[in-house]
Amino acid sequence: MYHSLTKSALKWHIWMHYLRIMDEILRQIGAFQDEIEAFDTTDADALENFRIRFLGTKGIVKALMGEMKSVPGDRKREFGQVMNAFKQFAESKFGALTEKLIVSGGGAHGIDTTLPGDPLPAGSRHPITLMRNRIVTIFQRMGFAVAEGPEIEDDWHNFTALNLDEDHPARDMQDTFYLSKSPDWLLRTHTSNVQIREMQKGKLPIRIICPGRVYRNETISARSHCFFHQVEGLYIDEDVSFADLKQTLYFFVKEMFGDDVRIRFRPSYFPFTEPSAEMDISCQLCKGKGCAVCKRTGWLEILGCGMVHPKVLENCNIDPTRYNGFAFGMGIERPAMLKYGIRDIRLFSENDVRFLRQFTAAT
Ligand code: PHE
Repeated sequence: MYHSLTKSALKWHIWMHYLRIMDEILRQIGAFQDEIEAFDTTDADALENFRIRFLGTKGIVKALMGEMKSVPGDRKREFGQVMNAFKQFAESKFGALTEKLIVSGGGAHGIDTTLPGDPLPAGSRHPITLMRNRIVTIFQRMGFAVAEGPEIEDDWHNFTALNLDEDHPARDMQDTFYLSKSPDWLLRTHTSNVQIREMQKGKLPIRIICPGRVYRNETISARSHCFFHQVEGLYIDEDVSFADLKQTLYFFVKEMFGDDVRIRFRPSYFPFTEPSAEMDISCQLCKGKGCAVCKRTGWLEILGCGMVHPKVLENCNIDPTRYNGFAFGMGIERPAMLKYGIRDIRLFSENDVRFLRQFTAAT
């Protein structure tokens, strides 16, 4: 009973308590040493539990530190030193073990350097790019080179050089976006501007394909948009014939759609070609029998073509008595819609990842 203790007896009591604590510290240091020596150095979870038991906020070291208040004043310094030494010793041991675990790649808290890395989700190519590449590759195999040019173009390269004078009624065939600052500048309505620029360079013969984006002021619907993509082609040399044009395009559609595809040419009109034609392929969905996609005709129109008009050659300083050639142009959206079963052209430009992700594995 404390109230009956004399002053010296009280001191004695404090002193004994201090010795018991010191005893307990030594015991815990010994226990720690035994445990850490026998420790399974591959078990990260057990190591963490072990660490928490000794060094955690409710751990043994902290609890012993809490005894500081009952340590006699002249012993506080010594007590502090012992406890700090214990703490540092434990920390350095845990540090060394954790490092060992990391290096050997064990456990949930270590980094296993032998595991494969986290996969980075790869994007997918846009279906327009896929179709463009397919078209381009086939023509490249026939010796055509890719040529590209500006989307903002002057009137001359987009129209006049192509035999469309200012008051030519065929300008109305393609509703044009003009730049409000100058009526001479516009968004190209076809990639034929690239062909003009290529012919102006004066290096002959020419065998190019011109893929790119074009713009027309059309009402946006499931079937048409105010911008779309084209691949146009141009071949200029001596003695080029319409038979060359037909054979080139026939090879292309066979590569593109398969050996059983049939083609037909219908006479048409373009100011920059003479004669001009539109080419149809047998409908690949109904195999020519007639369905909703080909409007029961069994045929699908895929491109315009013709022999380059002599006036176009003249406009580009090419001698039409020596050189001639053929040109053709096709949209990319339509064949892409056919190949991938896309029913609405607007999907191409909406950037909906649910749509785009479907093409991850497509070619
Ligand atoms: N430039 C035409 C268009 O955009 C396509 C075409 C190109 C037709 C070459 C004939 C020859 O519609």
